[in-house]
Amino acid sequence: MILDFEKLAPREGYAWLTQAVVPRPIAWVSTVSADGRPNLAPFSFFQAVCSNPPTLMFVPTNNRDGGKKDTLRNIEAVPEFVVNLVPYALAEPMNATAAPLPHGVSEFEHAHVATAPAAKVRPPRVAASPVAFECMLDRIVTIGSGVGAGNVVFGRIVAMHVAESVLNADGKAIDPVKLDLIARLSGDFYMRTGELFTITRPAGGSALRS
Ligand SMILES: Cc1cc2nc3c(=O)[nH]c(=O)nc-3n(C[C@H](O)[C@H](O)[C@H](O)COP(=O)(O)O)c2cc1C
Repeated sequence: MILDFEKLAPREGYAWLTQAVVPRPIAWVSTVSADGRPNLAPFSFFQAVCSNPPTLMFVPTNNRDGGKKDTLRNIEAVPEFVVNLVPYALAEPMNATAAPLPHGVSEFEHAHVATAPAAKVRPPRVAASPVAFECMLDRIVTIGSGVGAGNVVFGRIVAMHVAESVLNADGKAIDPVKLDLIARLSGDFYMRTGELFTITRPAGGSALRS
């Protein structure tokens, strides 16, 4: 079959796109409002972008009423955020923080997620998250308008927290099995790091492999 995306309703396009582009990593993003109230929400339109400068992106889409999500409103007011990564052990609280709560109500309290202070930015991080990136807002690129439109938030990484418990034996790199992150598929489906395999890359090319 072929789907004509120029004729699909945005809702249908969303369904086909998110069923096919899998697995997607999850950014569990903490922000603060102008008056300092913390907010936490998951985003699977998320990726690392480049390392010079170290940059990542995630995308709060517009709400069903076409309005901005609290995460975006907070970043516009306080241009700093933390991207916490989500291990299997935190899957349930992560999901609980996707509840549509009134602006200013903290998902940290709603989902009983403990906080830890960040080193360089104002929003707190998730204490139990094994990896957290502290970011300063680089820019927001708006794609489209109305329901489902994207607000691509690019963040400059200024600090990275890594728990000792996910390091390999020599303590110099992250062990992917110990990290045990989850990723989102479509709907309510998620996956967990399972069977791993390695492939040696062809020699040559850039020193900064991507
Ligand atoms: C695993 C997961 C991934 C999600 N990914 C996104 C996403 O990429 N973009 C988005 O706008 N909403 C996404 N959502 C929904 C938001 O988390 C949800 O709308 C949340 O209430 C937004 O919170 P906020 O208004 O406090 O920013 C996702 C939800 C879950 C559970």
